[in-house]
Amino acid sequence: MTTSHGLPNAHTLSDADASVLQIWGKHPLKGHVKISGAKNSALTIIAAALLCPEDCRIRNVPNLVDVKRMGQILAALGVKIEHHGDVLDINASTISHSKAPYELVSQLRASFFIIGPLLARLGVARIPLPGGCTIGARPVDLHVRGLQAMGADVQIEHGIVHAYVTGSQRRLKGAKIYLDYPSVGATETIMMAATLAEGETTIENAAQEPEVVDLANFCRAMGARIRGAGTNTITIAGVPRLHSTDYTINPDRIEAGTFLVAGAITHSEISLSPVVPEHLTAVIAKLQETGAQIVTEAPDRLCIIPGDTIKATDIETLPYPGFPTDMQAQFMALLTLSEGNSLITETVFENRMRHVAELNRMGADIRIKGNHALIRGVSMLSGAPVIATDLRASAALVLAGLAANGKTVIQCLHHLDRGYEQLEVKLLSLGAVLERVPAGADAGSAGLTSYSVLSEKD
Ligand code: EPZ
Repeated sequence: MTTSHGLPNAHTLSDADASVLQIWGKHPLKGHVKISGAKNSALTIIAAALLCPEDCRIRNVPNLVDVKRMGQILAALGVKIEHHGDVLDINASTISHSKAPYELVSQLRASFFIIGPLLARLGVARIPLPGGCTIGARPVDLHVRGLQAMGADVQIEHGIVHAYVTGSQRRLKGAKIYLDYPSVGATETIMMAATLAEGETTIENAAQEPEVVDLANFCRAMGARIRGAGTNTITIAGVPRLHSTDYTINPDRIEAGTFLVAGAITHSEISLSPVVPEHLTAVIAKLQETGAQIVTEAPDRLCIIPGDTIKATDIETLPYPGFPTDMQAQFMALLTLSEGNSLITETVFENRMRHVAELNRMGADIRIKGNHALIRGVSMLSGAPVIATDLRASAALVLAGLAANGKTVIQCLHHLDRGYEQLEVKLLSLGAVLERVPAGADAGSAGLTSYSVLSEKD
């Protein structure tokens, strides 16, 4: 079923949650898996297409619920958008609305990324405040302060962020901006807004994530003048207008990291491509500490060779190039089966350990103290009915299910569908034994109590 703009309907919450994923563990995986385009690049790059009054073609776009929702938000602003497989054609020559609809924005946190491009193009933007989600409060104060420094008047009323630029040109002005925290989102919002501003903008203590670089490269392909993306200082010289482009998004480093952990936790040799190995430096280093070997089979292809055992190690999540918080849950699943004790410290989000209770339901031994989790390795996990609480937590439960004795049944699959393209199909092609079935069809999981479905918005 598609919308009037040729976009497939984003799954409603209930669609995915009308089904559960059954996994029969202890089946070795084997073979090669193709890595999709990066979700966290796609979401901002689609928003950045609003900066351009001409055609933009974006390739290697992952087929994900969040991407569909971002497309629907642009369509609601009057933008022409067509989806052909993994290619998106966007034409934002006409933007008929400066207000994004609450019902769409409320389902996708990343939709807040349109505030920078809308303000830069129209001089006005009205975006519902994204609010918190299951992994943290996630304020947008750094985004707002950056836009204010560029001359925008920003008011928050009735849950809506009203931003507008005064003056005849209604054009933002270049500014020197220091970020109190190297926020990915705030860096991206300010960078996009600055591409069409009057004068030069400098972002100090900027985020250095590969998705920030991917976004900068997309904007540069449209004619933006950006230097230093990927370092902690980014400089943007504003230009009056951007032009059309044809751009290919990077492969998803978090999906790649998730499959590398799938190899380690099931003691399986798996190859994956395309990847950018440098984007995975911290992940590879930690996998090697657990005893796995990572072989570069080609410039864009990696292979994991598992160790005989899984060694314990400590992990602290940090902004890039530190260890990614989006891989924390997956590594926690791996370390539950290690020989020894591991300590994981989550420093980026204040509430990103909700997978612990579910892993303990499967026989793990994890204790939480503040933002630390002490993981005492156990010799085996056993399949159980579990509930996914957010995107990366759901990936951790899939990995634990692949390694566990017996059957694991995962509920709340809407989290998984938001960020992993065809995960089941890819795992089945590697030899996993799993099946998505209507909830209730998974006889034997009578013990499941239906938690209220907490939505995570990214
Ligand atoms: C991006 O979120 C990613 N999402 C997240 O991926 C990822 O976990 C995160 O960066 C960190 O790498 C997308 O790109 C769509 P931040 P973002 O701004 O931009 C605080 C996934 O699993 N902060 O770097 O929201 C904030 O509360 C998702 O794919 C402020 O205090 O992350 C958090 O504690 C989850 N004020 C920290 O900074 C602000 O104005 C990092 O947030 C902005 C952020």
